[in-house]
Amino acid sequence: MKSMLENIRREALDALGQAALPENVEALRVKYLGKKGELTAILKQMGKLSAEERPVMGQLANKVRGEIEQAIASAAAAAEERRLDLQLKQEALDVTVPGRSMTIGHKHPMYTVLDEIKDIFIGMGFRILDGPEIELAEYNFTKLNTDEGHPAREWSDTFYFTEDSSILLRTQTSPMQIRAMETYPLPLRVIAPGRVYRKDEVDATHSPMFHQIEGLVVDKGITMGDLKGTLNTVVEKLYGAGTKTRFRPHHFPFTEPSCEMDVQCHECGGVGCRVCKGEGWIEMLGAGMVHPKVLEGCGIDSSVYSGWAFGIGLERTALRRFNISDLRLIFENDVRFLTQF
Ligand code: PHE
Repeated sequence: MKSMLENIRREALDALGQAALPENVEALRVKYLGKKGELTAILKQMGKLSAEERPVMGQLANKVRGEIEQAIASAAAAAEERRLDLQLKQEALDVTVPGRSMTIGHKHPMYTVLDEIKDIFIGMGFRILDGPEIELAEYNFTKLNTDEGHPAREWSDTFYFTEDSSILLRTQTSPMQIRAMETYPLPLRVIAPGRVYRKDEVDATHSPMFHQIEGLVVDKGITMGDLKGTLNTVVEKLYGAGTKTRFRPHHFPFTEPSCEMDVQCHECGGVGCRVCKGEGWIEMLGAGMVHPKVLEGCGIDSSVYSGWAFGIGLERTALRRFNISDLRLIFENDVRFLTQF
């Protein structure tokens, strides 16, 4: 019996030393110490021993049982630790993996052009103004020398809010000339970008909402030469040194004299092509010397002060700048289009 006990002890301790998982340890506990276990079976045979042998074997059996129990406890602890280690490794979160980046959209090509134009004018000492899109007819028309009865005030062209035609969506940024002259001290150098509205059907070149930039300078001794010099500088900065301009006579109620400025076609250099429709020149903006009646209406002495103003369409400038053929692309905001610029 003694050698049986010692065999069991050796076997059990060996096996426990190799048990890797908690369930292996548990299986060994059942195998040796369970109700039908090997050690239990031997203990059941104690009754068959003689009176002298019984206490000696009893003591040995208890000692073996104690050793196996202890080995089970430490094997169980080690196995549990290994199991935890393994679980931690499998569920590990790698905080160094780069995150999924968010789609943050893209700057609109028209605002790229607007920012360039703003930068050029800021560099020349201009202030940038922002004004209301819902405007008084008095500012949009009357104070701009466009009296009642003038065809520009027709209901067919303008979005009015009131029956008496006194409040409207501005049709141009020119009312900002009046607001600037009424608000700020002279001399004045401002540009005012913003949305304007006209009753136009949407097509490749028209939209009921579009953007303009108004420009205004008022000081002593300002001439048409200042207007030309300033606009030529802007055009060269925008389209490259040497880009030529052309000033043609035109009519606006609030400037006298008035003109339109063309830019030499960037595509053909003035020879005539598809882009400029064979003209060699592309119309860019309306401008002129501020009408004395407009200055006087804002309380400015037109015998002392003079000024120039211009208004440029922003969408058209962006289309030309990026060779875009359809105005609608500017408003649709399809990212597949926007990300090309
Ligand atoms: N407001 C005019 C337009 O919309 C442009 C313009 C502005 C002309 C300033 C002269 C001076 O057509």
